[in-house]
Amino acid sequence: MDLFCSAGGASAGYYRAGFDVVGVDIESQPNYMFAFHRADAVTFPLDGFDIVAGSPPCQGYSGMSNCRPGLAGEYPQLIDVMRERLQAWGGPWILENVAGSGLAEQDDLFGANGVLLCGTMFGRELYRHRLFETSFPVAAPSHPRHLKPASKAGHWKPGTVISVAGNCAPIRLAREVMDIAWMTREELSESIPPYYSEYLGLSFFAALKAGAAA
Ligand SMILES: C[S@@+](CC[C@H](N)C(=O)[O-])C[C@H]1O[C@@H](n2cnc3c(N)ncnc32)[C@H](O)[C@@H]1O
Repeated sequence: MDLFCSAGGASAGYYRAGFDVVGVDIESQPNYMFAFHRADAVTFPLDGFDIVAGSPPCQGYSGMSNCRPGLAGEYPQLIDVMRERLQAWGGPWILENVAGSGLAEQDDLFGANGVLLCGTMFGRELYRHRLFETSFPVAAPSHPRHLKPASKAGHWKPGTVISVAGNCAPIRLAREVMDIAWMTREELSESIPPYYSEYLGLSFFAALKAGAAA
């Protein structure tokens, strides 16, 4: 189950890892490619699913919101609500968001599992940090240094790393570095590259095999 699925960047990676995927989003998602329910992820029933992933809106937490005063306040902060919901549900889970959201960024002494993923960890020219808190252990890949400058969103030039945010351009390059051929600019800028969620899905299977998954 992929809650807050949008146009399915994360879902595509879970599918590639070997899962059958069902998505839930409060908006209709014409570009979503798996079974889909238009519904509220905070209340959608989770019975019968083997694992639940969720990526609540990040605008309430994102540093980008600092550029537009008031923007953060317009978005609900759903991380704590969803963590409590998934813990109460009792199966294995993955929650994704940005720095500042309060998600664990690494394993901690209180038993949380967290990992930060970046495109560079997968050999991609993409600086996109996302935090994943999970109910099972995930190894942190090594994080290459960001040696090239990042472009400003919408103003890529050769020799810089494209920022997939806002009105990202050129869309061909944004789609290539995200490994997502089917999304609009707006969908791309909200999305998780499928290779992140594929890595998490495969980490789940490894944890299951090792007897380390909830
Ligand atoms: C950051 S995007 C998710 C991106 C997606 N994981 C991907 O990789 O493409 C957040 C999505 O949450 C949806 N959303 C916001 N509030 C919601 C709610 N209460 N229930 C379900 N979906 C919601 C938005 O419509 C948006 O599509």
